[in-house]
Amino acid sequence: MTKQVSQILEELREDHRNLTVLLAMLDREIARLKSQEDPDYELLHDILTYMTGYPDAVHHKKEDWVYARMAAVRSSMQRDLVRIEHDHAEISNLGNKLLSDIKAIESGTVLRRFDVVEDARRYLTRQRDHMRWEDEKLFPLIDSLKAELDLSGKPSQVGIMADPVFGPSVESSFHTLFEAIKNEGLAP
Ligand SMILES: [Fe+2]
Ligand SMILES: [Fe+2]
Repeated sequence: MTKQVSQILEELREDHRNLTVLLAMLDREIARLKSQEDPDYELLHDILTYMTGYPDAVHHKKEDWVYARMAAVRSSMQRDLVRIEHDHAEISNLGNKLLSDIKAIESGTVLRRFDVVEDARRYLTRQRDHMRWEDEKLFPLIDSLKAELDLSGKPSQVGIMADPVFGPSVESSFHTLFEAIKNEGLAP
């Protein structure tokens, strides 16, 4: 089982590295909005479309499955499962709210800058706090349970979708985002 666990852990860590890059770009565009400059709304749209797609559908599902298997061998994980479920749901809700703000602005609706900045702040804080908790506590715990964890029989909904930006091929709707990542020297 050890090799399988190591591989899944590496996939989760790689997702976090990619998400960290996108959160930094998102943060910078929102800082522009906050300082009364014009952010790149197309970039914000693409980042949030990605963030509310692949990570929610694949990364979080994969984590939910691994954490549930961990709880089967460490009953103390049961309490963490409640927080994980809550965090994943909230990250999805906050991401979708921010995406709907950006779509509204793009279609000409006037929104208060303060409200959009506040929605972004909530999203960035929750994402970063959650990932920090996983990087510092949950992922090392996965590593320490390698010998006991049984991660065979991956559920069918986990991993069925390839990463449309950082995966083997870039989905056509994300070419602009991929170029933006490359231009910053942040390409994977
Ligand atoms: Fe997570
Ligand atoms: Fe995660």
